[in-house]
Amino acid sequence: MELSDVSADLSEVLFTEQQIADKLAELARRIEADYAGDRPLLVGVLKGAVMVMADLARELKIHLDMDWMAVSSYGAGTQSSGVVRILKDLDTDVQGRRVLIVEDIIDSGLTLSWLKANLATRGAASVEICALLRKPDAVKVDVDVRYLGFDIPNAFVVGYGLDYAETYRNLRGVGVLSPHVYQ
Ligand code: XMP
Ligand code: MG
Repeated sequence: MELSDVSADLSEVLFTEQQIADKLAELARRIEADYAGDRPLLVGVLKGAVMVMADLARELKIHLDMDWMAVSSYGAGTQSSGVVRILKDLDTDVQGRRVLIVEDIIDSGLTLSWLKANLATRGAASVEICALLRKPDAVKVDVDVRYLGFDIPNAFVVGYGLDYAETYRNLRGVGVLSPHVYQ
């Protein structure tokens, strides 16, 4: 689905399909250089990272493995609690592997800093993060994102894997959800 198909629901277009593709190509060139001669394990965080993973993995001209985790970082409230529950764990043993976590967006950063530490305790040789988007609050936790697409304003965004109540994940681009949709 195109951003223009839901333009009434968006207050702003942030990134088009082409802008995202260009950025992922740029990140892929750096990742290829950094992992030359290795076979990294890309760990996608469900469900939001599905599009980033699919496009980044196909852009990469190196052999790699892909696996998935599903985590829940939210307790009763709407804000990240820092308490992370694993809903679906990896099928892969990460012992000795160079792991690259692939994420859609970093907001508080609590989920990723927990995930990074968790994978490190399993004996991964290295754990780095690739995220398409980062919100300003992420600086609070100071999570080290080796490969970052874009810094964005503190607004609720949808598209390219990101949802509001499971809707909009299939948009080709990313936009700011208009408040009238959720108010
Ligand atoms: P942290 O722990 O970094 O959690 O606060 C990041 C997770 O929060 C969700 N999230 C969003 N999802 N639009 C979305 O569709 C947004 O603007 C947004 N901000 C945060 C998302 O699941 C991400 O993995
Ligand atoms: Mg979500």
